[in-house]
Amino acid sequence: MSEDKIVLSGMRPTGKLHLGNYHGALKNWIALQHKYKCYFFVADLHSLTTAYDKTQNLAQNSQDMLIDWLTAGLDPQAATIFVQSDVPEVSELNTLLGMITPLGWLLRNPTYKEQIQELLKQKYAGQLDEKTLGEKLASIAGDEEISCFGFLGYPVLMATDILIQNASYVPVGKDQTAHLEIARDLARRFAEIYGQEVFTEPSPLYTLVARVPGLDGRKMSKSYNNAISLGENLDDVRKKVMTMFTDPNKKKATDPANPDGCVVFAFHQIYNPQAAKRCEECKAGALGCVACKKELFALMEPELDAFSQRRKQFENDPAQLEKIVLAGKEKARANAALTLARVKKAMRICK
Ligand code: TRP
Repeated sequence: MSEDKIVLSGMRPTGKLHLGNYHGALKNWIALQHKYKCYFFVADLHSLTTAYDKTQNLAQNSQDMLIDWLTAGLDPQAATIFVQSDVPEVSELNTLLGMITPLGWLLRNPTYKEQIQELLKQKYAGQLDEKTLGEKLASIAGDEEISCFGFLGYPVLMATDILIQNASYVPVGKDQTAHLEIARDLARRFAEIYGQEVFTEPSPLYTLVARVPGLDGRKMSKSYNNAISLGENLDDVRKKVMTMFTDPNKKKATDPANPDGCVVFAFHQIYNPQAAKRCEECKAGALGCVACKKELFALMEPELDAFSQRRKQFENDPAQLEKIVLAGKEKARANAALTLARVKKAMRICK
């Protein structure tokens, strides 16, 4: 290990991971686990901030995601892997940090506004005309069912996750910048109020990761129905690859085309060591899209197949997963308890 600095990150349990989650985040975690002391957790409480009324699959989704993490190569010997709700110290510190969080910080948080608008759009999709929806979006605080206390407090809970484990670095996407800023501000505010530097100020760790578009060229997302999952059946993957969005100006196999914006080319950049050559061939019209897609699938197939085979080991051995999660919980709780004790002392809740 090159440093004893702590790295921490979490993912909301969306169930089985897709290739965007893998290439965009998980691969980076796997690379970090041998360089730093790492904590990686399933942010199941965070799921409740928006989907509190859709909990039927929550526990299963957490488990599916954990299995994908382990199959992909997160190593419980190297990193502490745990489930957020297994660590009650998180909820306790969340309460305490909530006491010192100015409401304005949360109401001004751009992610809060964007997310609430996105949720409103989903909720009223097809039900409201444009104008009424527009009015609803303008008065975002008006929808009681969406703007819940826990949802507004999302960044406090995230700050808690980070501060309670003393993390210095937090690998996240750029979309999480505002949240991380609140975590830093809270660490500082705590020190100002109680006169003790209990927390480490965390920094985001942005890594240059591959951009993985969905089949249609938008961001890959389960809700857009444009995703390929890590352990997906290979026949389905083949069919999906054949539907990938390509340069719409290329009509014939011999037409020269533009690989920028072509989903197939974006995937070649991940899976094909000769992607630069492919770029030239595409521009020269040396190859049709069907052939290019077939070749891409042939490159993806062995990796996806190996993943599915490895995944079975964990699927067939729930006791092994349970053991790993229990060990992670104990480590995460022990570290969290140390911070919590210092917090309570600084706040003079206990002597
Ligand atoms: N908000 C993060 C996301 O949606 C998930 C998350 C929750 C997280 N707590 C965290 C990430 C703490 C890093 C650190 O992606």
